[in-house]
Parts: sequence; C-alpha cells; structure tokens
Amino acid sequence: MTTPVNVAVLAAGLGKRMHSALPKVLHPLAGRPVVAYVIDAARSLSPRAVVVVVGHGADAVRQALAASDISFALQDPPRGTGDATRIALAALPADGVTLVTIGDIPLVPPEALARVVAGAREGRLALLTAKVPDPRGLGRIVRDAAGRVRAIVEERDADDAQRGIDEINTGVMAAPTALMKRWVNALAPDNAQGEYYVTDIVAAAVAEGVPVVAELAADEREVRGINDRAQLVAVERIVQERRAAALLRDGVLIVDPARVDIRGPLTCGRDVRIDVGCVLEGDVRLGDGVTIGPYCVLRNVTVGAGTAIEPYSYLVDSAVGEQCRIGPYARLRPGATLADEVHVGNFVEVKASTLGRGAKANHLAYIGDTTVGSGVNYGAGSITANYDGANKHRTVIGDHASIGSNCVLVAPVTVGEHATIGAGSVIAQDAPAGALTVARSRQVTVQGWQRPVKPSKE
Ligand code: UD1
Ligand code: CA
Repeated sequence: MTTPVNVAVLAAGLGKRMHSALPKVLHPLAGRPVVAYVIDAARSLSPRAVVVVVGHGADAVRQALAASDISFALQDPPRGTGDATRIALAALPADGVTLVTIGDIPLVPPEALARVVAGAREGRLALLTAKVPDPRGLGRIVRDAAGRVRAIVEERDADDAQRGIDEINTGVMAAPTALMKRWVNALAPDNAQGEYYVTDIVAAAVAEGVPVVAELAADEREVRGINDRAQLVAVERIVQERRAAALLRDGVLIVDPARVDIRGPLTCGRDVRIDVGCVLEGDVRLGDGVTIGPYCVLRNVTVGAGTAIEPYSYLVDSAVGEQCRIGPYARLRPGATLADEVHVGNFVEVKASTLGRGAKANHLAYIGDTTVGSGVNYGAGSITANYDGANKHRTVIGDHASIGSNCVLVAPVTVGEHATIGAGSVIAQDAPAGALTVARSRQVTVQGWQRPVKPSKE
C-alpha cells in the first residue's frame, strides 16, 4: 500500500496587496475562487485528508469552500506560513506524508504536486521550484557548489548574491509528516518580518542530513502566485487563453481567443460560433449551430440548436429553445423560458415568462410574469403592467393572439386564443378569444380648427 497523503492549504493570510474587503484567496479567477483551484489540484492526489488554514475572512472562506472532503483550521493571528503549517499539522493525521501548499497559486498542475509527493514518499523533503524571469518578492532556492539545495531565503532576508538567484520557491513542499511536524514546531521568527517561515524547514532538514529534492516546475507561468490585482488579472488571461484554446480544439469557433471571457462551465454542441467581446458566466449550454454575436453576456443560460443570439444581448438565468432569434439588444431576465422559433428583438425585456413556439416580440417591449402562447405576435412598444406597487400579477396570452403596438396589459389579465388587441389599447379586463378588442379613445377630426400663428416680428 502506498503511504497516505495529507494536504495542508494555507489560506489565512491578509492579502494586503489586494486592497480588498474580500479575502485574497476568494477573489474569482474565471468565476471561481483562487483557492478552489489549489484544492482541486490537491484532490488529484487522492489525499486522505485536506485541511485549509483560514484566518482573515475565515467565515467567508469556510462558506465558499465547504465540502465533505475538506476541513478547516483557524489561524488567528496570522504569524506566517510556518505557523499556519503547524496549525494544519495539528489538524491532520500524524502519519503518512504531508503536502503543504500556499493557497494563492491557482494554476499549480496536479502532475507537479504528484512529483513532490513522490519525493516525500522516499523519505525526503521535496520542494516545487521554478526558474522565473523576475524573482522579485519570492523565496530563493540556495544551492551549494555541488548543486544541492541548502536553504530557502526570502527576498527581505537575502543578500545581493542571493537576490540574483532565479530559482524560486513556489510555495509547495512535502515531507514525511513526522519530520515536517518536528521541523515546524522548532521554527523561530528570527527574520526581517518577524514571522514563522515554513521555508526555514529546508535548512532544518539539511542540518539533520535529510535529503532535500527540488522538483522544477515545467512552466513558471503555472506556479505564479497571486498577491495583487495585477497578478490576478495576468493569471486570468492565462486561464482564458487556455479555455479558448480548448474550445477551438473541440470545434467551437471562438472568433478571437483574446476577446472572450468564460467564467464557468460551458458546454457547446457542434458548429457553435462565439463572436468577440462575449462574457459567459456560470453554467452556459449552447446547442449545435448556436451563434453568439459580439458583446453578449450570458449567465446560467441554455440555448437550443440553431438559435442566433444577436449582438449586445444580455441573458441571465434563462432558457432559449431551438431556432430562435434573440436581439440585437435583447434582455432576458431570470425565469425567461422561450420555446423553439421564438423571436425576441431589440430593446425587448422578458422576465419570469414563458413564450410559446414561434411567439414574436420584435421591438421595444416588456413581458413580465406572463405566459405567452405559441404563435403570438406581441407588438412594438407594448408592455405588461405586472406590478401594482405592492404585488406582481400574471398575464396570460393565448395561442396565436395578436397584441398591437403600444398596448398596456394590466395584470392580472387574460387575452384569449386568436384574440386581437388593437394598437394603443389599455387592457385591464380579460379579452375574449377570437375577437378584436380595442380599448382606446376614438379618433376625432375637428373641422375648421385653426393652427395658431406666430405674431409677425415688425
Ligand atoms: C511565500 C513563500 C515564498 C514563495 C512564495 C511563492 C514563505 C515564508 N514564503 O511568500 O518563499 O516564493 O510564497 O508565491 O512561505 N498564509 C497563511 N498564514 C500566514 C501567512 C500566509 O495562511 O500567517 C497563507 C496566505 O493566505 C497565502 C500563502 O500562505 O495563501 C502565502 O502567503 P504570502 O504572504 O502570500 O507569502 P509570500 O510572501 O508570497
Ligand atoms: Ca504569495
């Protein structure tokens, strides 16, 4: 049997450089908290236990990450990564090997974690290191003349020669749990920041003659830490590039991979085309042949095959059927459910309503809390008056009804099947099926009326 693995994720730090009320590790990266990526990578090790050390914004972090396979340990106050590791170890099983990772390196690949764990299983202290073009602010890997790792020196404690080292500590290490525990308990905060540094266990291992192995990350971009907003958005670009590349590989036409943002699970059928400037958030499902025009925002939306979402449309918590045409400039609010072949045109807003097959609302309209039958034509400028200032009421429009332009349907109200509502009507009572209902004042012509004339200037 292989040695069991425990994982400690350090996520208690202040994240001062974010200048944010939100704990640093909860900042969203492609729609998910930064630390969630690290936890997913840790899960790939099939660990026996995962403990997340929380402190700053502890409740928010606990809530965001709550899962049956994760426990939390509180570090208060934050006294450094060594102190956080000590607290984690106290909450983890005492045997096996323990992998410690900082919580702010979201792209760390599972393969790299596995290499570090393998080193620990051989009784060594294993580190994940990286060669970086700009090592500023990071812990440097100090090696002896024979190339053996001797210590990690933090930027603030480094001398000029050490500052020139381009191999850095990524913040991932693993060792047999018993050894790690002993080293961590013996840490002292004698450094420039007066903190307990987990990185000091390297020198402790060297002093005891325990071999230290440095596993070099294949790509330094994958182990970038997130400490400030600039680093956050830089890593966001990497994630977005990867997602766009994966979609292109799967046959989705991303018109410009640098101009799309996908912030949640996206599933696409064949021959989907997504134009520039789109933001797809949450769970988005696009059927075969769906096209999304430029600058659309879709959040938790399902779109049926063959449907075109025209430019500048904004769809949230909605379901659109097949062969529909939405937009340009359409707004689908939560609870909009559209059957097949529905047209929702420019400046049309739909909320908590169902539209039957082939229903059309092509221009400047509001449909709220309404059941719209199939084949309904809903005229330009018409609205449902669904709110009386206190309560919302429903409107029901029967199949094949025709609502003229500029009507107000004052809910609760029902328009029967095949009914026609004349333009400009205010419908406050039910309109019967099959008949024309008009509710507007009659047109009059005033004979002999004189248009006023301006007095002459002289
Ligand atoms: C740390 C490493 C540095 C490494 C760098 C890689 C130390 C001393 N330094 O520096 O060698 O190059 O990461 O990005 O380990 N945390 C706690 N409790 C604390 C302090 C921090 O849980 O008391 C957590 C933070 O939430 C964060 C992680 O540990 O997720 C790293 O802390 P941070 O302050 O960002 O360390 P760095 O200065 O980046
Ligand atoms: Ca950091």
